[in-house]
Amino acid sequence: MTKLIAGNWKMYGHGGDAMAFIDEMRTKLAGGPAKADMLICPPAILVERFVRYVKELPIAIGGQDCHVEPQGAHTGDIAANMLTEVGATYCIVGHSERRQAYGEDHAKVRAKADAALKAGLRPIVCIGETLHERAIGQTLDVLKAAVKASVPDDDRVVVAYEPIWAIGSGSTPSAEEIAEAHHTLRRLLMPNVRILYGGSVKPQNAKEILAIKDVDGALVGGASLKAADFWAIVQACP
Ligand code: PGA
Repeated sequence: MTKLIAGNWKMYGHGGDAMAFIDEMRTKLAGGPAKADMLICPPAILVERFVRYVKELPIAIGGQDCHVEPQGAHTGDIAANMLTEVGATYCIVGHSERRQAYGEDHAKVRAKADAALKAGLRPIVCIGETLHERAIGQTLDVLKAAVKASVPDDDRVVVAYEPIWAIGSGSTPSAEEIAEAHHTLRRLLMPNVRILYGGSVKPQNAKEILAIKDVDGALVGGASLKAADFWAIVQACP
């Protein structure tokens, strides 16, 4: 299947950055086609602006989180259908930063993924082990439990395997460890579900990671903020 390179901008980027990023991507794309499907998930307030800027470019735009309800008295939150309304097509749910900072458990993440699907968005459900869980040999069990409790049985879902200790750290699991995790996930998920790897993916290591069996793309944080780096990762796809 075609790989998906998804950029998670987290709480970075201002309006001008959106325009500069897309302008640079337009120049890159004028030189030849992308080797993967592309998605950018900017801060919610920039989603609409990104959708407008990408226009005819083959870049999808997504949210980074959504509420479980379609509306309600939830100050500061955003409903999945609000993202759909402004042209988003994906939504990250259950990123470890949200699981840790806001106490989102599997049940909450599952409810968010369901809400995203209901609104017509493709949820990218993030799962992954801590360094301690890896050290004591629990990685695969943690992943199995996470799939069971937080991933809907629906082939519009995307799963991102993100070892928590690899996010923003510059460290990644070995190719064998990534292959083992993705192989385990593949057996648990519907055949068409894309399984992304996330955690310190950079232009320097993208080729090796994206060549690993059962890795259907990447969820990229820091390196997705610069169009040149994002494009290099896209073009590192086999
Ligand atoms: P990173 O973040 O690429 O900066 O490690 C990945 C993520 O948090 O999705």
